[in-house]
Amino acid sequence: MTRPITFLLIFISLSLVACDSKEKRTASSNDNPFQYQVDSILGLMTLDEKLGQLNLPSSGDITTGASQSSDIAKKIEEGKVGGLFNIKTVEKIREVQKIAMEKSRMKIPLIFGMDVIHGYETTFPIPLGLSCTWNMDMIEKTARMAAQEATADGINWTFSPMVDISRDPRWGRVSEGSGEDVFLGSQIAKAMVNGYQGDDLTKNNTMLACVKHFALYGAPEAGRDYNTVDMSRIRMYNEYLPPYQAAIDAGVGSVMASFNEIDGVPATGNKWLLTDLLREDWGFNGFVVTDYTGIEEMMYHGVGNLQQVSAQALKAGSDMDMVAEGFLGTLKQSVEDGLVSIEDIDKAVSRILTAKYQIGLFDDPYKYCDLERPKNEVFTEENRAFARQVSAESLVLLKNADSLLPLKKSGTIALVGPMANTAVNMAGTWSVATKQEKSIPLLEGLKTVAGDQVNVLYAKGSNVDYDLEYENRVTMFGKSIPRDDRSDQQLLDEALSIAAKSDVIIAAIGETAEMSGESSSVTNLQIPKLQQELLNALLKTGKPVVLVLFTGRPLAITAENENVQAILNVWFPGSEAGLAISDVLFGDVNPSGKLTATFPRNVGQVPIFYNHKNTGRPLGNKEGKFQKFKSNYLDVRNEPLYPFGYGLSYTKFDYKNLTVSTDTISMDSAFKVSVEVSNTGDYDGKEVVQLYVRDVVGSVTRPVRELKGFQKIEIKKGETKTVNFDMTVNDLKFYNSDLDFVAEPGEFQVFVGTDADAELMTSFQLKK
Ligand code: BGC
Repeated sequence: MTRPITFLLIFISLSLVACDSKEKRTASSNDNPFQYQVDSILGLMTLDEKLGQLNLPSSGDITTGASQSSDIAKKIEEGKVGGLFNIKTVEKIREVQKIAMEKSRMKIPLIFGMDVIHGYETTFPIPLGLSCTWNMDMIEKTARMAAQEATADGINWTFSPMVDISRDPRWGRVSEGSGEDVFLGSQIAKAMVNGYQGDDLTKNNTMLACVKHFALYGAPEAGRDYNTVDMSRIRMYNEYLPPYQAAIDAGVGSVMASFNEIDGVPATGNKWLLTDLLREDWGFNGFVVTDYTGIEEMMYHGVGNLQQVSAQALKAGSDMDMVAEGFLGTLKQSVEDGLVSIEDIDKAVSRILTAKYQIGLFDDPYKYCDLERPKNEVFTEENRAFARQVSAESLVLLKNADSLLPLKKSGTIALVGPMANTAVNMAGTWSVATKQEKSIPLLEGLKTVAGDQVNVLYAKGSNVDYDLEYENRVTMFGKSIPRDDRSDQQLLDEALSIAAKSDVIIAAIGETAEMSGESSSVTNLQIPKLQQELLNALLKTGKPVVLVLFTGRPLAITAENENVQAILNVWFPGSEAGLAISDVLFGDVNPSGKLTATFPRNVGQVPIFYNHKNTGRPLGNKEGKFQKFKSNYLDVRNEPLYPFGYGLSYTKFDYKNLTVSTDTISMDSAFKVSVEVSNTGDYDGKEVVQLYVRDVVGSVTRPVRELKGFQKIEIKKGETKTVNFDMTVNDLKFYNSDLDFVAEPGEFQVFVGTDADAELMTSFQLKK
């Protein structure tokens, strides 16, 4: 057959398959509504073209790893590419899709991925900050808006949500997740999947989500990125796996395998993980993509050469190969050598084609390529206004002695610090689509929100750190703060001179954007030395100081907590950063963010988290007094600096009358926990009412308490609200040593309050 005729036949077949999609849905033998169409296409494909569908190169626009793919256009023409990522702008994407549709033999549309992690061009706080809103509607809406913007720009697949639980702030990617708690993390996973995928994936403003990094990536030894993970099954099931499962239950379309090993087998090639658990136990039927060069990295893990590890990855359940080209380069040989079968390959191709059907690419390959959309839908005033609200709600007030905050909109303010006037650092890590220079730095935001009555003076005060090499390393991705050529003393003198003229000093210091995120692990959790010294010099002036702390991780700020009057933790608040921070500083917004990761007193306490076990030798006093032969340290008390769930408001909330609807609960009954919360301060405010449960006696040891419910409510000053939690026995279940999910009879204690240290307690019995 001549080539033009082949083209024509394939085109007609694909069109028929696409048009027929609704009628033929029942023709499949499994529950995939597109199986008939997918099988028809598979029947027309060569082995090379099948392997092409499993191949996901990076467009090369943005570099995130070691290996680079080249000559993409030629490969697309040859049918060697299933999707592409790291390509931005709808114009470019349309052009690339045209190559697939007009020049490749099979004319299978490409899927376009991107790390749309916390917003697109309109950028929300880094995920750790976003989680501190504890506001599920808001979080879902951020994902919805990100999908709206990204799809307007041609992207139809996001590598988000990242739901890795982490208890180790040394790990730089703690910034990309929702903190340490599995219950909260699961709610957020669900909200984000719902936000991205919406109620109909075929709409042109919804996108396929990808839950990552499956699994346990947030628990690397020593907090060093990509390092070994080794964990008991019981801990995995109870403390790390639920957020991934929540995303699966919410219908997430794809899963990304993690870089780390699990039980000695790299996740990318781990059959227990990717098939037995994910597909057979949890019922996932989407596709699995590896992480960047994940297959190639299995060689360095030491489990085989490229051909062997590629075959292992495919057989384990990895369907799409991100960047490594192990599938493309070796699977044909592996079919010949009997390492994999055509059926293994067909299974993976079929999952990828199904996803393309799900998002409607076979109906219209250009459905996300409307050149008019970006103008009206990306970085709009409306989206930015919402981002400003979200950012303000993510900020956590850590200290506010003598009610220094909110500031009055009058007098003179000295704004000092290397983070005070840097647009490009506001969006934080993994903000690849953000127009960094359009973010609003604190200086600009402060002037705008303060209005005419406030005189804002600014001085940089210091560079990021003494160590130029370190500074270069942490600004490698271009989010730099240009180093000031003046000497440290000159910078400090300038800061002190404006401080002398001011009524209050705002110190904007901490980490820069790329000090957290991928490949940004640290062993020191303190603010960089040079900035600490700047802060100390400002404190010495005797003027009131507000520390506005930028960070992508919990920092050890024990000395700052001791010495500074007010501390507002702002994470990296996104494109509207400066406005949102100022809204809170001046009290236009009352802060309501609550920590989702424990702040340690020093790095030696790490890993530190609220839902730990009791040990056989718990410390018997609340004051943290050292006791010999008890589980404590000689040099620092056990408690963290700030617990999980902690965060202050400008008003005050009192809790009382905690009740459970019944003292005894049977295995099939529902019950209600109620509490009264009063706003006894001077401002209207929002409070995150948190409910923790302790299972007093278990067949295996149980945590001292676990979050089992929360509600974010608004309470006007002087008002009291009754908050009700509807619970079922399901909320009391855990995985026992047989990995059965059970609730065991006995006493349960319930604590409700403003953070994980909540003392208001009641209890009930669960009867057989
Ligand atoms: C990261 C992933 C990311 C991927 C694609 C990797 O280095 O681990 O989180 O989705 O790159 O950019």
